Amino acid sequence: MAQYDVIIIGAGPGGYVSAIRCAQLGLKTAIVEGRETLGGTCLNVGCIPSKALLHATHLLHEAEHNFASMGLKGKAPSVDWDQMKSYKEEVIGQNTGGVEFLMKKNKIDWLKGWASIPAAGQVKVGDEVHATKNIVIASGSVPSALPGVEVDNAKGIVVDSTGALELPKIPKKMVVIGAGVIGLELGSVYARLGAEVTVVEYMDAVCPGMDADVQRSFKRILEKQGLTFVMGAAVKGVEAGKSKAKVSYEPKKGGDAQTLEADVVLVATGRKPYSEGLGLDALGVKMTERGQIATDGHWATSVPGIYAIGDVIQGPMLAHKAEDEGMAVAEVIAGKHGHVNYGVIPGVVYTTPEVATVGATEDALKAEGRKIKVGKFMFMGNARAKAVHQAEGGFVKLIADKETDRILGAAIIGPGAGDLIHEICVAMEFGASAEDIALTCHAHPTYSEAVREAALACGDGAIHS
Ligand code: NAI
Repeated sequence: MAQYDVIIIGAGPGGYVSAIRCAQLGLKTAIVEGRETLGGTCLNVGCIPSKALLHATHLLHEAEHNFASMGLKGKAPSVDWDQMKSYKEEVIGQNTGGVEFLMKKNKIDWLKGWASIPAAGQVKVGDEVHATKNIVIASGSVPSALPGVEVDNAKGIVVDSTGALELPKIPKKMVVIGAGVIGLELGSVYARLGAEVTVVEYMDAVCPGMDADVQRSFKRILEKQGLTFVMGAAVKGVEAGKSKAKVSYEPKKGGDAQTLEADVVLVATGRKPYSEGLGLDALGVKMTERGQIATDGHWATSVPGIYAIGDVIQGPMLAHKAEDEGMAVAEVIAGKHGHVNYGVIPGVVYTTPEVATVGATEDALKAEGRKIKVGKFMFMGNARAKAVHQAEGGFVKLIADKETDRILGAAIIGPGAGDLIHEICVAMEFGASAEDIALTCHAHPTYSEAVREAALACGDGAIHS
């Protein structure tokens, strides 16, 4: 029996990145994955396929709404849904194939099947038990169920995010339950494809926890794009018929229950950690109250030799957070000093325009009583944003400490926000001040000038506002 230094359970971004780092650090490594392809939720049924559909439908939106004004005349393209899904599959294939290549290149064994842990130091896959010094659980998350709602992806009427990527046809009417990241990204996709999309959200703002200015602007922009919102409404049940479903919800402030009819209902009310079948109970692995695997500052569980990272532990359920933890835990196992700065983990929504945030929000800092200054710059003052029809309603907001000028957080809604945010992430990692960004030359005309302008607004004032 091969003796491994590390066996990683789950080949999503957390798991496969951890495996590569382990191998780079000279550890004999295997990864266990039961899916047919590597890459986990992110590559197979999450981030990557949704980005393929967002890209394709964004271009459709451009053709329908903006081409003519730019002098691009002609019939708008028609949608071949099956072909769009094939394109999405091709993108998935390229990515999952890429991960498989990386496993081979780094001499990481792929143990195919679903793992369980009979004891510390052992991982069972199929009938075989593999010996290992360390185990890293990176088993991810699954959509969480909503009481009174039965998801059936195969039927394609009441679906979760996985089913929504595979709908047999484009619905005429779609109800999305939950105005979180999944609901808004996939709601955007289907709205651009012509569906009448209604989003029902329990809270009073979209994307709970996000900067309040961004929430307001984001909702307005999406409404302009054709999405309808029912806010402050708790969905109580979904009744699925042969080809339609009825969603019933209750207004939070009271009043009669209402119903909405749709061809497709997307349940996007959050995800939950997934560790079923691993045998953690019998091992005595401590869990948190929220069903996450409890870990210490070095990703160690309560059982020596067993670590956990990614969606299955606490923290935001984001691929890049899992990747960072994957690299850091590999360093810890190799006797080095793995570290993740949880204060600087960006969050991005890949709609058009994109939304990106990092660090603390203005509201949270004010609630703490922290003295801050806020530099805000509207994309309406950014030359480049106007050229791509994405200036309206967007902005960069930079928050800095009032006395030291140190950057504490940022929120961006506008073109390329998901890339722009990283300038601020790097600045925060270096403990930079808003002035540091303001004094840095930014190329013209780029979207990044809006970041600089927001930094200038923290000082003597932005130029183009
Ligand atoms: P979420 O937690 O972001 O949003 C769920 C929404 O559903 C919340 O706004 C909540 O108030 C609402 N809700 C819950 N129960 C409800 C009810 N009964 N009636 C009406 N509204 C209800 O969860 P989501 O969008 O499902 O995403 C799951 C995870 O996946 C998140 O952690 C997210 O960060 C991650 N993700 C990240 C992406 C990205 O980084 N671009 C893309 C997709 C998912």
